[in-house]
Amino acid sequence: MATPLPTFQRLGALKDVGAFRAHVASLSLDLPCDDELIAGDASPLLQPVTVGGLTIRNRICVHPMEGWDGTPDGRPSEATFRRWRRFGQSGAKLIWGGEAVAVRHDGRANPNQLFIGPNSREDLARLREALVEEHVRTTGSSEGLVIGLQLTHSGRYSQPNVKGRPEPRILYLHPILDRRVGVDSDAAILTDGDIRKLVEDYHAAAKVAADAGFDFVDVKHCHGYLGHEFLSAHTRPGNYGGSFEHRTRFLREIVEVVDSVSPKLHVGVRLSAFDMVPFRPDPLRSSPGKPGPGAPEPHDHLLPYRWGFGVNVEDPTQYDLGETVRLLELFRELRVRLVNLSAGSPYYNPHVQRPAYYPPSDGYQPPEDPLVGVARQMDVVRELKGRFPETVMVGTGYSYLQEYLPNVAQAALREGWVDSIGLGRVVLSYPEILLDAARGTALQAKKICRTFSDCTTAPRNGLPSGCYPLDEYYKGSELHEKLKEAKAARKGK
Ligand SMILES: Cc1cc2nc3c(=O)[nH]c(=O)nc-3n(C[C@H](O)[C@H](O)[C@H](O)COP(=O)(O)O)c2cc1C
Ligand code: SF4
Repeated sequence: MATPLPTFQRLGALKDVGAFRAHVASLSLDLPCDDELIAGDASPLLQPVTVGGLTIRNRICVHPMEGWDGTPDGRPSEATFRRWRRFGQSGAKLIWGGEAVAVRHDGRANPNQLFIGPNSREDLARLREALVEEHVRTTGSSEGLVIGLQLTHSGRYSQPNVKGRPEPRILYLHPILDRRVGVDSDAAILTDGDIRKLVEDYHAAAKVAADAGFDFVDVKHCHGYLGHEFLSAHTRPGNYGGSFEHRTRFLREIVEVVDSVSPKLHVGVRLSAFDMVPFRPDPLRSSPGKPGPGAPEPHDHLLPYRWGFGVNVEDPTQYDLGETVRLLELFRELRVRLVNLSAGSPYYNPHVQRPAYYPPSDGYQPPEDPLVGVARQMDVVRELKGRFPETVMVGTGYSYLQEYLPNVAQAALREGWVDSIGLGRVVLSYPEILLDAARGTALQAKKICRTFSDCTTAPRNGLPSGCYPLDEYYKGSELHEKLKEAKAARKGK
């Protein structure tokens, strides 16, 4: 008989912040949490922070979130504009990237991802302006609003032409991940020459972003996409693999040129600060249409594990920050002072990257209380912040905290664990959650993200992303019906 699935405390069912704290204590987690929120000008959420001459007027950040809703030629659609306006409505003074924008067609993660070319300046400027306009409508001023654009190549997760058809471009063969994206030969491996051309695409894209009025570009190094894959290219020969110096060459080549070509443009990096071996639904606890809890892929034969960054090579179910610290030292040398810390990948260990109560359709049941995942990310940021006090660090993974997000965010800022609270999923359902908290306005419980994961499930089924369960925009829409059908079809499998 299959072992029963573990059950976890639903945070929405807790009666108050005291009960939340008791729950945190029952899990033996170290998570800061204030009983009382400070409203108004003294709120820790509303304090400015300065980095490299840029003043960011509050401590709320919107993480990049793509919508799978651009046009086939990589331009924003009305749905894209709506999302960016909602980013503005959040009141966040730091907009980290808007969404991942591919620097060229073959690096798109889906055929509807935005991509940046020489003619994109006007579209990007309009997206940015729409955000600013809404921000001003909500907060009364655009003072201290800092907006970046996330630049990416999706590498192993490229799907530029047809939904559901991977066209991976990779740096090395991976003993676990190759079969998931249909890699069975060296054909998908980028040569050093291909990489040099790609670096030029990043330079061109950064120039367009600067011309469109962005304050910074994020050279994305997270979540299993190409930038992140460079960091773990231990087994790759040549100029871009092997030693730490070679594995960081791509980043250095981009940053150094951007600095000289667009001196006013700042550079930030979103980084998966740590990682783990890929997970899968535990085959012994799964049944058709019902994936079991996540379990690490078998890896005893792969030790020492050489296919990850920020991973303990002897036990890749654990992280190791040794090289992460080295990388942050390199950021300091390169004068990259704005860093957004994330972890893992939504493709191969989603419980690490975006802790959720309900898994996405291609995921697995949580292998741990999702609060453990939140605490892990927060703890890593605290440790790195302690070592690099001058680097402005944005933290990730807060959406799972739901009602208690403001209490934890305020305490984390007050205690110096992090400089800015990054918000992902909850922005799709309730963009102004932290602004409401900082203004002393009661939270609107019906808008709080419950981590249903539909915003991840929809794109996995070829549909645009968005908060289908809570955002009025999708209520009764054709898209909502399609998502229901896709979920039912998967269950039936
Ligand atoms: C629909 C969706 C799209 C996302 N797109 C991006 C992206 O384009 N770039 C990126 O760095 N992270 C992306 N992420 C990850 C989020 O930025 C964030 O790291 C993650 O949701 C965890 O934060 P949260 O707990 O606040 O949701 C995406 C997440 C979701 C749910
Ligand atoms: S679909 Fe909505 S409630 Fe579900 S995780 Fe995404 S934002 Fe949260």
